[in-house]
Amino acid sequence: MLITLLASCHHEETTTPDPDAFPEGFAWGSATAGFQVEMGCPTWSAEDCEDRNSDWYQWVTTPSIIETGSLYVTGEPVSDGPGMWETFEDDVARMRDDGHTAFRMSLEWSRLFPDGAAEQATTVDELVPYANAAAVQRYHEVFDALHQAGIRPVVTINHYVLPLWVHDGVACHEHLDTCSPNGWLDGERITRLISLYAGFVAREYGADVDDWYTLNEPFATTLSGYMLPGPDRSAPPGVSNEIEATRDVTIHQVEASAAMYDAVKAEDPTATVGIVMNMTAIDPNDPNNPADVLGAEHMDWLYHRVFLEALTSGDWDDDLDGTIDSNRPELAGRLDVIGVNYYNRVTVLGLPFPLYPEILPVFDFFPEFSWEPYEEGLGRVLREAGEYGLPVWVTENGTPYVEEDGVPILEGHVASMHEAIDAGVDVRGYLYWSWVDNYEWNHGLDLRFGLYTFDPATKERIERPAAARLRQYAAENRL
Ligand code: FCB
Repeated sequence: MLITLLASCHHEETTTPDPDAFPEGFAWGSATAGFQVEMGCPTWSAEDCEDRNSDWYQWVTTPSIIETGSLYVTGEPVSDGPGMWETFEDDVARMRDDGHTAFRMSLEWSRLFPDGAAEQATTVDELVPYANAAAVQRYHEVFDALHQAGIRPVVTINHYVLPLWVHDGVACHEHLDTCSPNGWLDGERITRLISLYAGFVAREYGADVDDWYTLNEPFATTLSGYMLPGPDRSAPPGVSNEIEATRDVTIHQVEASAAMYDAVKAEDPTATVGIVMNMTAIDPNDPNNPADVLGAEHMDWLYHRVFLEALTSGDWDDDLDGTIDSNRPELAGRLDVIGVNYYNRVTVLGLPFPLYPEILPVFDFFPEFSWEPYEEGLGRVLREAGEYGLPVWVTENGTPYVEEDGVPILEGHVASMHEAIDAGVDVRGYLYWSWVDNYEWNHGLDLRFGLYTFDPATKERIERPAAARLRQYAAENRL
């Protein structure tokens, strides 16, 4: 009798759920993007290491762009980067030792298809012979290393960077109306090309990859390329207040993401396909000022919801005025998962009227960004993403203050994520930006986010305290 009683007490004790635990199988790891981490190899020649065929490579190496102060491009040599094209295997071994179970990376379209002759292909079969065999092989090696380490690859098909034969960012900076090739401006062309490329990578790597994301942060491309390039981020083609282009590029990215979803599914029907959104915690500057409140709602629409509504229900805001005009079945149901990148909050000043009522009526606000940590914002944006009823991953989260305050900021974010999970959001994994200090777009190495920094001469990784804290989260799977 006593024994039974003791046994049942013991049983109860071991099955009481731990309130601080994360769900079983929750993934912990880090995130990167090809352009930002691949170049700067420690021993491989620049020829073997650098990918010179992209709009971003062109952007950070063109003197006239670097000299244009308003573009804030440091022009730091890409060879100052961490060189993962060579060091992937060593980094993956370190991730394994850190207990990471997932790793987000992007495939670089310009590495796989450096040559514009690829445009002649009209099917995935026809595209195959145009692929660069060495790059195809290198990504296979990376996936093999990840599999051997028991780390799940989470793959972004296009993280901002376009091949030069798809986008000449410098020509478009100079003459947006006449430049060629003009990247996201030509919706028919880029949708055709990028979905064929998506089909290619799903066929080539589908056996290794289950988790695919079409585009990274579509509105960041639009904002820093066509609307408001600034000190925080400027991107090719780096033109300001091109509002028609802003509208068109936004629409083209929604359409392209849906077409990429279909292309991946056609090759790999069991794949999970999502989009990565940059989700900010948006607050009105003065919650008692109706213009600020409306401005905040409109910004939320343009940044987040116009994409998520379209790609879930097909509800479509034709003229970007903040209201649904039609339903487009070819966009609906084109997300299996939502990737959330979270860094900061934005305070919104409402304007008394839209700046461009004919072209972008929803744009009646001015956003003020800041990198200041606002940890509880992660839970807020996860709840917003969770409204769509799909699984959610934190596909990026981190801070440029990682050197000084990496641990408390990480702990604040993880606690906020835990609250969202408690509130019912189906969060499946947390990927820290970034694995290692990276080439941070226009900033070069001036903005650093890595769990690891590196010795500039040898590229040897040097751990930051946040790496140890993440290792502990991965080991314990609890707060
Ligand atoms: C995100 C990008 C990522 C990196 C971080 C800091 O907007 O997706 O590539 O630049 O910001």
